[in-house]
Amino acid sequence: MKILFAASEVYPLIKTGGLGDVMHSLPSALAELGDDVRIVIPAYESVISKVENIVDAGEMIVQGSGRMHQVRILQASHESLNMPVMLIDIPVLYSRKGNPYVDENGHNWVDNAERFAVFSRCVAMLATGQADTGWKPDVVHCNDWQTGLVPAFLSQYETDIKTVFTIHNLSYAGHFSYATFEQLGLPAEWWSPDSVEFYGNFSMLKAGLIYSHWITTVSPSYADEICTPDGGNGYDGILNHLSYKLIGILNGVDYKIWNPQTDEFIARHYSLTHQRIVGKKENKKSLLEHFDLPDTSAPVFGFVGRMVEQKGVDLIVSVIPHLIKHTDAMFVLLGTGQLEYQQQLQNLAKQYPERMGLSIGYSEEIAHKIEAGADAFLMPSRFEPCGLNQMYSLKYGTPPIVRYTGGLADTVVDANDETIKNKTATGFVFNKIDADELLQAINRCINVFKKEKLWGQVCRTAMQQDYSWTHSAHEYEKLYKKQTTSGL
Ligand code: ADP
Ligand code: GLC
Repeated sequence: MKILFAASEVYPLIKTGGLGDVMHSLPSALAELGDDVRIVIPAYESVISKVENIVDAGEMIVQGSGRMHQVRILQASHESLNMPVMLIDIPVLYSRKGNPYVDENGHNWVDNAERFAVFSRCVAMLATGQADTGWKPDVVHCNDWQTGLVPAFLSQYETDIKTVFTIHNLSYAGHFSYATFEQLGLPAEWWSPDSVEFYGNFSMLKAGLIYSHWITTVSPSYADEICTPDGGNGYDGILNHLSYKLIGILNGVDYKIWNPQTDEFIARHYSLTHQRIVGKKENKKSLLEHFDLPDTSAPVFGFVGRMVEQKGVDLIVSVIPHLIKHTDAMFVLLGTGQLEYQQQLQNLAKQYPERMGLSIGYSEEIAHKIEAGADAFLMPSRFEPCGLNQMYSLKYGTPPIVRYTGGLADTVVDANDETIKNKTATGFVFNKIDADELLQAINRCINVFKKEKLWGQVCRTAMQQDYSWTHSAHEYEKLYKKQTTSGL
């Protein structure tokens, strides 16, 4: 099958979170199954400097916000991607430094509506052969709100191209005003509750939901949660209505990148059967050294992630002082995000320099070092569509401490009397969004950590889990071929 992935990020060209990882690993897994896969992303400045073998693949004129854009389609490659990368090159929209979504002060780029509406128009035109690249997909697989308008634009063409729209995170929806809707020259009939209108604005995410043949999201539990008022962000009504075409497919992990046996960033390689104990020890030592912390046999808790409300950073901030006072726990954290969380963590790191290491920033290298060097991994998310870090942690023998939500609930087995007895425990799970519950889970973890044999068992079971793409990539293949039964 010919599959075109449309997204706003792909590792290692540009990544801010799990979407980038999945846009690398899922297309790669499908290409390995024999599908003819391509990915299309905007030609951000940093991407142009990373790709190789750039060739001109076509040109188009595309409507923007009250202006027209001359677009170059580029085709390129990268050694770590086993598929061609198509780039939508419009320098005035994409050639700027920094993050794909926000400026250096963390504010959304003011022209985001135009940037991603135009990107979506280009993808639809590219797919229907208007840039004449000589390649036409059977399926266009769109991801998150930045590509939500692609199925809507495609619905305007006489075409049998199938569209799949994947929700990676419902809390980012791409809402814009009626004035923006008009400036973008979107069809007037789309301004309707049955189309892209959403509580007086228009929603690019809703366009993806309404006009795609299939909606997927990245774990079965999250697929259920988003159909409820608590987890639906205002979209639960629409999603219930469209539930005939909604399915949850768990993300996979690319074990070529996230594997302690081959990881290029870590101090010592190890696996379930080779040097596990000594490997963990040396990686812990090297991690602590990196953060100028003393080597220790005390438990080290790691965190890597976007420091936003979703990730429960406030809960971590609440429990650290108590744990430092009452236990020998240490902490190593990496991330960027909301200033208030960064500042609170910086204050704690200043207060407890011997017990806590903090890196505010983005670093693939430190992220891998934390997975390998920490004893346990903190992920107390308020909600988590899938979550990749907990699956990486399992592979690295670093049991995750997670809240029972979304993909975390689908991938981590709580260590309780029963699961310890039947040897299925892989981590520590708590229920309520509550600092005391997190504290209890961490204390349970510390108790198991102190019992060497038991701890070894939980770590080994964690490492045995297989979340590779094999199963989920087949699920997507089946879906690409399946007809939707009602609705469209
Ligand atoms: P989300 O997509 O919600 O951010 P995931 O757990 O699915 O959460 O994926 C996060 C990905 O981004 C992981 O690969 C993680 O290692 C990476 N990541 C997040 N923040 C950072 C950071 N500050 N430095 C390096 N990698 C990061
Ligand atoms: C989103 C979600 C995360 C998921 C990732 C990849 O960013 O927050 O839970 O793992 O997308 O699908």
